[in-house]
Amino acid sequence: MDFSGFYKLPVKDRLAKLREAGKISAEDEKVLLDGDALKMEVADRMVENVVGRFHLPFAVVPGFVVNGKEYVVPMVVEEPSVVAGSANAAKSARESGGFTADADEPIMVGQLQIMNPKSGALAKLEENREKIFAKGKEFAVGVERYGGGLKEIRFREVKTSRGKMVLIEFDVDVRDIMGANTVNTIVEGTAPLAQEIIGGTVRLRILSNLAIKRKARAKCTWKKEVIGEAAVEGVLDGYEMAANDVYRCSTHNKGIMNGIDAVAVATGNDWRAVEAGAHSFAAMGGYHPLTKFYKDANGNLVGEIELPLAVGTVGGAININPLAQIGQKILGAKSARELSMVMAAVGLAQNFAALRALGMEGISQGHMKLHAKNLAVIAGAHTFEEIDKVTEKMKASGVYTVENAKKIFEGMKRGSK
Ligand code: MEV
Repeated sequence: MDFSGFYKLPVKDRLAKLREAGKISAEDEKVLLDGDALKMEVADRMVENVVGRFHLPFAVVPGFVVNGKEYVVPMVVEEPSVVAGSANAAKSARESGGFTADADEPIMVGQLQIMNPKSGALAKLEENREKIFAKGKEFAVGVERYGGGLKEIRFREVKTSRGKMVLIEFDVDVRDIMGANTVNTIVEGTAPLAQEIIGGTVRLRILSNLAIKRKARAKCTWKKEVIGEAAVEGVLDGYEMAANDVYRCSTHNKGIMNGIDAVAVATGNDWRAVEAGAHSFAAMGGYHPLTKFYKDANGNLVGEIELPLAVGTVGGAININPLAQIGQKILGAKSARELSMVMAAVGLAQNFAALRALGMEGISQGHMKLHAKNLAVIAGAHTFEEIDKVTEKMKASGVYTVENAKKIFEGMKRGSK
């Protein structure tokens, strides 16, 4: 399917293209156009104290090639240039062969904390390992039905300022769900038996968002003939700043998460969990960039990314929010692992786009061009026609400020009187 010029189309034609490509049905199109897609009654059951629903733009990036498969990637985000950045990076990546990616099995880790157990607690836990494991399995039957389940348990002891603490860790294969509820149920269900064996006080029973056993990786080689040698050098210098300066590294990783979070939201995933996992992983061994850039023997730019990605294709909010279901459908990942691979590729693409822009022309101009429509609205333009006219005139002047937008809009109003 040829998506060239997609960004220039009006919304209804973009939807028609998605339909033609078999990404959405006529019913999905209605839902996407419907400001009331997430019904108030449903929203009211999702969280407490609901007083409304909050809308954000739902965009797509076609032509994202990962492991030879072409994806249309859904992104929900309020920030201009995130979608365009991903789209440009995906295009230059495609011309260089696309992204390769892989991901670990979907193993989540749950933790049970027992404070001040009897002495010899670790030995007692070891003696009862099989019994504890069997108890944990009793609470994993739901996920076992889908081919997952409890895989391993570990015991460790930690000295704290409030005494001895035993941690029991549960590795759970959660298959295609994010897995928080499943893991928490297993940990909570096993806690009474563990306490019976070692005494002490049961405290926290919760999964770890540092999903260290559930990492995804992506790689791309951007050919120097495609992106130009100056861009190769610009990206490499920008990467060095992140690798050697924590202040820059924070922003570098934020740019990566711009893309990953946008896909997480569009697919109904818990983006706070994804953020927590990414940054705690980045902090391991000293806060470092989630990506790596270097030159290959031919002078092409190679980018790599690795991070934990605890995301699902089913369960949780995905089953409740019709827009999340459409996001999942558009992306079309057959498993949580596949989804995580695409998300890793999006993070790498986003980072490449930011470093290329920052290392070359700077991002303000590009950002402001995309921001021009917002400026037109702030200046008072209401109708699509007014907004487009102010935007065009602002582009022609090259000055992207609220003052200029106001001057243009006032001039237009005077001219039409
Ligand atoms: C802005 O949301 C993201 C960037 O600051 C990322 C970066 O600096 O790499 C552009």
